[in-house]
Amino acid sequence: MSQTTAAGTFSLGDRHVKRLGYGAMQLAGPGVFGPPRDRAAAIAVLREAVAQGVDHIDTSDFYGPHVTNQIIREALAPYPDDLVIVTKIGARRGEDASWLPAFSPAELTQAVHDNLRNLGVDVLDVVNLRLMFDVHAPAEGSIEAPLTVLADLQRQGKVRHVGLSHVTPTQVAEGRRICEIVCVQNQYNLAHRADDALIDMLAADGIAYVPFFPLGGFTPLQSSALSEVAQQLGATPMQVALAWLLQRAPNILLIPGTSSVAHLRENLAAAALTLPSEVLAKLDGIGRTG
Ligand SMILES: NC(=O)c1ccc[n+]([C@@H]2O[C@H](COP(=O)([O-])OP(=O)(O)OC[C@H]3O[C@@H](n4cnc5c(N)ncnc54)[C@H](OP(=O)(O)O)[C@@H]3O)[C@@H](O)[C@H]2O)c1
Repeated sequence: MSQTTAAGTFSLGDRHVKRLGYGAMQLAGPGVFGPPRDRAAAIAVLREAVAQGVDHIDTSDFYGPHVTNQIIREALAPYPDDLVIVTKIGARRGEDASWLPAFSPAELTQAVHDNLRNLGVDVLDVVNLRLMFDVHAPAEGSIEAPLTVLADLQRQGKVRHVGLSHVTPTQVAEGRRICEIVCVQNQYNLAHRADDALIDMLAADGIAYVPFFPLGGFTPLQSSALSEVAQQLGATPMQVALAWLLQRAPNILLIPGTSSVAHLRENLAAAALTLPSEVLAKLDGIGRTG
């Protein structure tokens, strides 16, 4: 077991998970479409994550589609008792790899069943409703209709906990009036800080905030301040970016994505990296405008 315990835990539904987890999106093929170039390598990354103590994996059946969940099942089933797998529904893939909304009751229900089948489980630990009003940024609009469908699936016992993804604070408030929301998954990192106020509000209410693209996603973070700090601390820029998120708020759970065992180990080691206050102040300056 590695240093993954060093950053502590936070609640995710009825469990506590370590604050450094793993995001599986990078395990599908190029453009998150089709099979990976090296399936054995993808399996090795997942097994190493669990061996290193990761107990929170983020996925979706629209990665591939289906591919990532099938690889997770092949690598890890029967699953460790303490592993929480979080999936998301609300999108589908076009034949050209495009990301399309899939919010009809039939599509949402089918997505839950696809996740159950491909992960090989009887109940999904956590399902995020991924909003698609605008693919690139959260956009206002009522989430009542699709969230009510997901809440019904929860009542039927197919889903243990419900979360929201790619949402505005108004939608989070609307969602919390419909059913219990255990996590919010939005884009947030050192350079993209639009959710600062939302994170603090969720922290006050004990709800997990799970930033996607913690390392910048398809455009990896690059900043001279980040590189200088990393060099000064004897760490890598990616480790500093993750450590900054861990220190940003106690309810932040990390799911950095990688297709590489070496990067996975590097990322998990960030759990043990503490950034001094003068470093935090310097890093805070990078993305203040969100
Ligand atoms: N809810 C949503 O809408 C949504 C959207 C996007 C993602 N997600 C979830 O969030 C997770 C994280 O997002 P992400 O994977 O897209 O982006 P990310 O974690 O910000 O960055 C992943 C990228 O960084 C590279 N990388 C990872 N560790 C590295 C290291 N130590 N050094 C250098 N490069 C490194 C990866 O390449 P290598 O493979 O070469 O390491 C990959 O290109 C996903 O896996 C997915 O589960 C959710």
